[in-house]
Amino acid sequence: MIETVLSAVWLMLPAYIPNSAAAVFGGGMPIDGGRTLGDGRRILGDGKTYRGLLAGTICGMLLGLLQIYYQTINSTIFGVKLPSFGELPGALVLIFTLAFGSLSGDMFMSFFKRRLGLKRGAPLPVVDQLDFVFGAWLLTYIASPVWFAGNFTCSIIIAVLIITPLLHFVTNVIGYFIGVKNEPW
Ligand code: CTP
Ligand code: MG
Repeated sequence: MIETVLSAVWLMLPAYIPNSAAAVFGGGMPIDGGRTLGDGRRILGDGKTYRGLLAGTICGMLLGLLQIYYQTINSTIFGVKLPSFGELPGALVLIFTLAFGSLSGDMFMSFFKRRLGLKRGAPLPVVDQLDFVFGAWLLTYIASPVWFAGNFTCSIIIAVLIITPLLHFVTNVIGYFIGVKNEPW
């Protein structure tokens, strides 16, 4: 149980950090350049910026690099054997797809939120909590199906789906109170 939870969080850390980093460092030029579609609504909205995408990807990858480095010294944490991102060139690809995929999933769902007529920041339960997980999984699966299947086992996937909304809730409430998030979701 503890082992599954720790492994799940460890594997997902490079995908979790980008959203918080985007909220802290984001802003400036929106990715859609302010453009609207035929429905008169923004393509993505002001909540998706180049700076957020870049800073988020970099922060997720920096944490991934720290994790890879940690595992060259110690293969366990709190006595639990950790899943590994593998050898170096491939491990870099994995932490990139986890970080960038996470922000891509979030961006993809913002596109649909705008099509549904939801304004920037309007809540869309379940989607807001899990869109980035599916983005990270999809890109990582495409990059390395073998590593994905070997590490994201059924129990790990279930653990991620349960833990992520809880972590998301806690970090967003913190983000709201320290003033980097406009809404607590
Ligand atoms: N952010 C950013 N660039 C991104 C993703 C996020 O700058 N690619 C920043 C924005 O300041 C955004 C904040 O992080 O407001 C929180 O992200 P999120 O909750 O995903 O955006 P929302 O403002 O809620 O917009 P949306 O309704 O499109 O989800
Ligand atoms: Mg939001």
